[in-house]
Amino acid sequence: MHKTAVIAAALIATAAAQAEEPENYIKYRQAMMSAIGGHTGAAGQIVRGKVSPEGALAMHANALATLNTDIGSLFPEGSDFGETRAKEEIWSDRAAFDKAAGDAKTATAAFAAAVAAGDEEKIGAAYRDVGESCKTCHKQFRQKKN
Ligand code: HEC
Repeated sequence: MHKTAVIAAALIATAAAQAEEPENYIKYRQAMMSAIGGHTGAAGQIVRGKVSPEGALAMHANALATLNTDIGSLFPEGSDFGETRAKEEIWSDRAAFDKAAGDAKTATAAFAAAVAAGDEEKIGAAYRDVGESCKTCHKQFRQKKN
């Protein structure tokens, strides 16, 4: 192999190894949560009838369902120190945490389905369920801001 190719390969290997450091998930999951928060807030504006951009509700609802497919994987073992508000209970009471993540997955999928069906009444209720799923997990597993 050419020398620069060897160096490039070594750099890529190093980058891959660093990306797998558990603590690097802290920034990643906070960015993912911000994205989830953004879509939830934007969808809320539409559900409450404040704005009605064409086709946007389906986009937000589908994004939420996709982003919530596997949020448990954003919290690997060892990502519990540093600049994080993740509580220790995520790892010490993993079954309860996984249930909360599963409930958010179910709620966002139901919201996307209600939006696809175009049923106004169901959309409102499904949106509230999404909000509840966020709140339930945050209450139990996210530290308050200090
Ligand atoms: C299964 C648990 C769980 C669910 C469900 C969940 N979150 Fe979170 N969320 C967390 C935890 C834990 C943190 C703190 C992460 C950290 O600081 O490392 C967080 C952080 C956040 C943040 C702050 C991100 C930042 O920049 O620090 C926002 C915004 C957020 N969540 C929005 C939402 C919304 C909106 C929903 C619902 C659609 C939701 N979350 C569902 C556990 C959850």
